[in-house]
Amino acid sequence: MAEDYQREIERRRTFAIISHPDAGKTTLTEKLLLYGGAINTAGSVKGKANAKYAVSDWMGIEKERGISVTSSVLQFDYDGYCINILDTPGHQDFSEDTYRTLMAADSAVMVIDASKGVEAQTIKLFKVCVMRHIPIFTFINKMDLEAKDSFELLDEIETVLGIRTCPINWPIGAGKRFKGVYNRDKKQVSMFQAVSVGGSKSAAETDYELSDPRLKEEIGEELYLQLTEEIELLDGASDAFDQELVNRGELSPVFFGSALTTFGVQTFLENFLNMTLPPLPRNSSEGPIQPVSASFSGFIFKIQANMNKAHHDRIAFMRICSGKFEADKEVYHVQSGRKMRLSQPQQIMAQDRKVIDEAYAGDVIGIFDPGLFSIGDTLCAIGQKFTYEGIPTFAPEHFCRLVSLDSMKRKQFIKGVTQLAQEGAIQIFKDYTLDLSEIIVGVVGVLQFDVLKYRLESEYNCEVRLEPLPYNYIRWVKNPAVDLNRLKRVNDCKKVKDMKDNPLLLFANEWSIRLVLENNEGLELEEFKKN
Ligand code: G4P
Repeated sequence: MAEDYQREIERRRTFAIISHPDAGKTTLTEKLLLYGGAINTAGSVKGKANAKYAVSDWMGIEKERGISVTSSVLQFDYDGYCINILDTPGHQDFSEDTYRTLMAADSAVMVIDASKGVEAQTIKLFKVCVMRHIPIFTFINKMDLEAKDSFELLDEIETVLGIRTCPINWPIGAGKRFKGVYNRDKKQVSMFQAVSVGGSKSAAETDYELSDPRLKEEIGEELYLQLTEEIELLDGASDAFDQELVNRGELSPVFFGSALTTFGVQTFLENFLNMTLPPLPRNSSEGPIQPVSASFSGFIFKIQANMNKAHHDRIAFMRICSGKFEADKEVYHVQSGRKMRLSQPQQIMAQDRKVIDEAYAGDVIGIFDPGLFSIGDTLCAIGQKFTYEGIPTFAPEHFCRLVSLDSMKRKQFIKGVTQLAQEGAIQIFKDYTLDLSEIIVGVVGVLQFDVLKYRLESEYNCEVRLEPLPYNYIRWVKNPAVDLNRLKRVNDCKKVKDMKDNPLLLFANEWSIRLVLENNEGLELEEFKKN
């Protein structure tokens, strides 16, 4: 028995795919799912009238706009592995959920558009991965279109993101001249043949040895010469593959390909599965907890209310960190000190929910939340009492004043706003002096404002108006005794309190943060509030 669950845990690979919007995250995810047989045809995301939506989209607003706002978990088997892809909201204006999802992943795959290189959102998400020291793999996508020089791309990843790179394969040409990739390990070239967007699993790839005369014939003298020169350069100058450095998140294996034409996806998947790790120990109040331990434990990283509008339910997403979870067994919720049975544990895949009987370390499941859970809470087997390290509150970057348009609905309004804040979709603040008469909402990505308005209207029946505020930086006052009313030079910042009455300041720019600090000796400000 014990060995069975060990084997199950060891075959788990749980990762998130991160990218700047439009780099091809959804397309790559869908192609990976095709390999696992989890879906039959890849859907298309972007609002074409007759197109199917990507499997990971489910909320009304997502359907309206054809974007992916919330996350779900995609699980499938491939070659003996059990793969969990933690889907992160893909829109430019992403939310804190994206950050939190990264807390639940064991590694990350960074998709980069070959013509654009490292983009703003990739940088933000990458920072969270670095904070956790998780392995980061790079898929340079869209090689079938015009691309930046490949060396330039590697250089950009190294300098902008500060991680070393190790190309596993190397492209031959790009765009109309894209001929295929050279596999550095096998010393073989896979020739590119585009495959239709939806159906077929893999591009028909013809492999040639580097010395095969047919290769030169196929790709032409010029590209052949360029390839041999580049291989020499790579072998001499680039970092060698080092599993230890990959495990620590210091070296990123790089793959080139084209998700849309399914070229390079299989090579990526197979190498990735070899290079990535099964679930790792996680830090807790009692030190690191081994995944392959006899008893179950996990933590909650996301809460979603009203996933099913008809039921007004709240689902908590739990990452299982150790042992085996069994649906009928009692567990212990450490923060409330209560024993409970988790009713209807589910695997959540887009709109589909499958009730499950068991799950293992590495898996993410949805559990019904009776209103008891908070983000970061620990659940474990009866008899255990440790807590996992908390999930930080990420600093919001956009702020609005939230006004209820119907004063008769004040109660519903407060309830809705409070629940959405508990879910972690938004952070709420109140004016430092005026108290609750003014509600200020802070979010990581501006799309959350639309989601907030939409959800308050559709789930709580409250019409609201959002008035943008010109602030982008938030700083908590570290010395709690400081009276904000006595601070000097605060004319261009806003004084607010969070819901726990901690004082903080909202600033328009870094310059005004410096000004306030210079003018108020002894004042200490901090960017994150540890929960
Ligand atoms: P995202 O989730 O990272 O936002 O990106 P997504 O996969 O939705 O891809 C964005 C666009 O880029 C899509 O085109 C998609 O078809 C295209 N794309 C993805 N991978 C490749 C690739 O390897 N080569 C080429 N040529 N295009 C790629 P779209 O026009 O926005 O949508 P659609 O009309 O194709 O569905």
